[in-house]
This record gives sequence, structure tokens and C-alpha cells, in this order.
Amino acid sequence: MKKPVESAPPLDLKRSLAMFEDAQRLTPGGVGGIRRPYNFVVGEYPIFITKGYGGHIVDVDGNDYIDMLCAYGPIILGYVEPEINDAVKARMDDGFCFSLVQPIQNELEERLADVLPCGEQTIIVKTGSDATNAAVRAARAYTGREVIARCGYHGWGDWCVENPGGIPQAVQDLTKEFHYGSIEDLERVFAENDGRVACVIITPVGHPLAAPVMPPPPGYLEAVKELTHRHGAVLIFDEVRTGFRVAMGGAQERYGVTPDLATVGKAMANGYPIAAVVGSREVLSVYEKAAFLSSTFFPNSLEMVAAMTCMDILEREKVQDVIWERGTAFLEKLGRIVDDSGVPVSMSGIPPMPFLWFDKADEHYKARRTDFYTQCIRRGLFVQPYHHWYICYRHTEEDLARALEVVEESLAYVGERYPRA
Ligand SMILES: Cc1ncc(COP(=O)(O)O)c(C=O)c1O
Repeated sequence: MKKPVESAPPLDLKRSLAMFEDAQRLTPGGVGGIRRPYNFVVGEYPIFITKGYGGHIVDVDGNDYIDMLCAYGPIILGYVEPEINDAVKARMDDGFCFSLVQPIQNELEERLADVLPCGEQTIIVKTGSDATNAAVRAARAYTGREVIARCGYHGWGDWCVENPGGIPQAVQDLTKEFHYGSIEDLERVFAENDGRVACVIITPVGHPLAAPVMPPPPGYLEAVKELTHRHGAVLIFDEVRTGFRVAMGGAQERYGVTPDLATVGKAMANGYPIAAVVGSREVLSVYEKAAFLSSTFFPNSLEMVAAMTCMDILEREKVQDVIWERGTAFLEKLGRIVDDSGVPVSMSGIPPMPFLWFDKADEHYKARRTDFYTQCIRRGLFVQPYHHWYICYRHTEEDLARALEVVEESLAYVGERYPRA
């Protein structure tokens, strides 16, 4: 008789849990939004991390994981890249925060404009939210219109955040959401807001939270662009996740559709906080006078040095090609494992961003998902139930093979506990 699949033993998380007790006294919710335990499996996942190396992280209790969440996207190379850190340290010795800007700003702006197909001008900021906020403000100032059509997660700006707490109704009313992949739905937004839409902001690959990842259907991005321009609105690709990851020039390069503006961040500097709006000189010229954008830390240069060095490595080692190739093989094997498992789960994603999606087939789907992720983390694979995974450059062949083994074992465990309805 076939031996039943054993559960892996629970992890020792004593220190993480004790620190979380302290954290809840110190800051609301203990830790910020998406890092809170309920986004993983409560009581099973670590909360505090002490270090990373290559494609791994180590928690405060000494547990070591293959990390396929990659800090929610910034880690494209791996944790701790000496070449980047050495360049940053050298900059520290001459200072990096001044009342005026530093020459590296020109170099980085020029490089971003060269790398991204939409690039004419660039504004460098610090976070993805800074970039999306700046892009929609530019579109509103440029068009003189107020309505924003959006699709996907774009950060914590008042105009886009899902949780309406603290946001005036009048502001919420100006943002209209449409479904990724349906041109009819975007047509509906234009029809309902005739002459009022300032911009369409869309993640060029569909990757909403707690949903499968969706590559652009054939002709979809082209149709979005045509429709947006026909209505005199600005097209913004939010490439905060896809920038530097699906190709050096982002999804716009890989899928061959150039927006008016693009926002990039995350993978741009392998973890250093920097982001940018890149695109049409005409639209961005509103920031010469008609609109305002400034922050004390925007011109700090450590992150610019990190971005330049990260881009050197990405180009020199053709990192995106390597990740795409490894990711293609990973997805193929994942697909076979999923098919053989008999568990109602499906594979989604594109090679650098794989994901598993638990079909809402019957009342056990949440239990299956919770057990699956519990078994994954106990077996040393750090992935997230509601967010797609990432492959980074320093994930070794062994890391990826082990990750697939963990997925296979965890699905086998789930399959035995909750047979299909
Ligand atoms: C597509 C997209 N846009 C914008 C943001 C906001 O970026 P940040 O968290 O750096 O403010 C994110 C963050 O996850 C994102 O995925």
C-alpha cells in the first residue's frame, strides 16, 4: 500500500513571534500592510528576517528558506550583491544628500530614457507609489481632466487604494476601475465618462492581488492604446513590477506596445529605494510649471548609484534572458506537477513570475491553500498565497529543483487530506 505523505514538522518561530508581540505595542498592526501575518499563514510563517544571501533568506530563529517572493519584487539579482554595495559605499564617502542635485542624476535619466521604449524624459523618485502618483498627476495636468481609469495595484495613493478608509468620497468617485483583459470593460468606462478621462493606468501584465497572473491577450494592449488615444487620454503602463524583469525595457519592450508614460521601480536597483516616471516629453513638461513635484530625498544619490550598477549587471549578464529561460523550464515542470497532483489547482504566470492558483472548486479550497502554503514554508520554500512568486538571477538550478520538489510534496499532502469533491 502507498505510504501516506507525512506533514513536515512545524518550524521553531519563537523569536519571530515574541518580536511580533513587541511590534504590536510599537506600531499599528505590528508590521506594515502586506507584511502582516494574515497575508501568509498565521503562526506558520516567520515575521522577522535577519539576513539574505543569493536566493535565500534567514529568519531570526535561524530558519533558512529559498525565497521566491524576492522582497515583493525588488530582488532581481539576489540578496547582497557586492558589486552594487561597493559602488554605494564609495559614494557614501563623498556624501549623497545635498541641497543641489548630483551629476549621476543626468546619467541615470539618460539611461532610463534609452532603455525604455517610451523614454524621452525621466523623473526620478523613491517609491513605486511616488511614480504612479506623479504619472497620474501629470496626465491630469496635461489633459485638464479629472477621471482616472485604473486596472491593477498601483500603490497607496488616495486615487488608487482599495481600502477607502480616510479617503474623501469625492476623490474615490474620480477613479474608475476596469477589468484586465476586457477591452469592452474599458470601453464602458470611456462611455460612462465621456470627455472626462485623463488617463488609463494599467499593469501591462495582469497581476492583481489574490488572482491568477495573466499575460496580455493578443492585441489587447494595442487595443487599449488605440482606445485611450481615440478619447484624448494619456496611456500609462504601470511597470513597477514588470520593469527590468520581463525585459530590460519592461513589458512594453517584450510585448511591443509603447505607452505615453511608464512607471518603474522595484527591480531597478535590486532593493535600494528608487523609482521613476519615464515617457513623453510633452506630457511631463507639465512639471516645468503647471504641476508640482518635489521631495527632500528624491535627489539622494546612493539609490541612483545602485540603479546604475544594477543595470550594468542586468545588461552585462543578460539577466532577463537567463531568468526567462529558467522560468520557462520552471513553469513547464510546475505544470506537469500540477496535472499529476489531481488537486484542483492551476498554474498561472509568465516565466519570471510563476504562481499557483487554487480553484474555488468546492468548500475545501481555502483549507487546501492554507495547508499547501503551510507545507511549503515548513519545507523551506518562502512563497505567498495571494501574490505571485518571482525567480531571481541567483536562484540556482538546485534552488529551483528543490522548490519544485517542495511544491510536489506539498500538493501530494493536500491531495490526500482533501480529495476532490
Ligand atoms: C504594479 C505596482 N505599482 C505600484 C506599486 C507601488 O509601489 P511601492 O510599494 O514601491 O510604493 C506596486 C507595489 O507593489 C506595484 O506592484
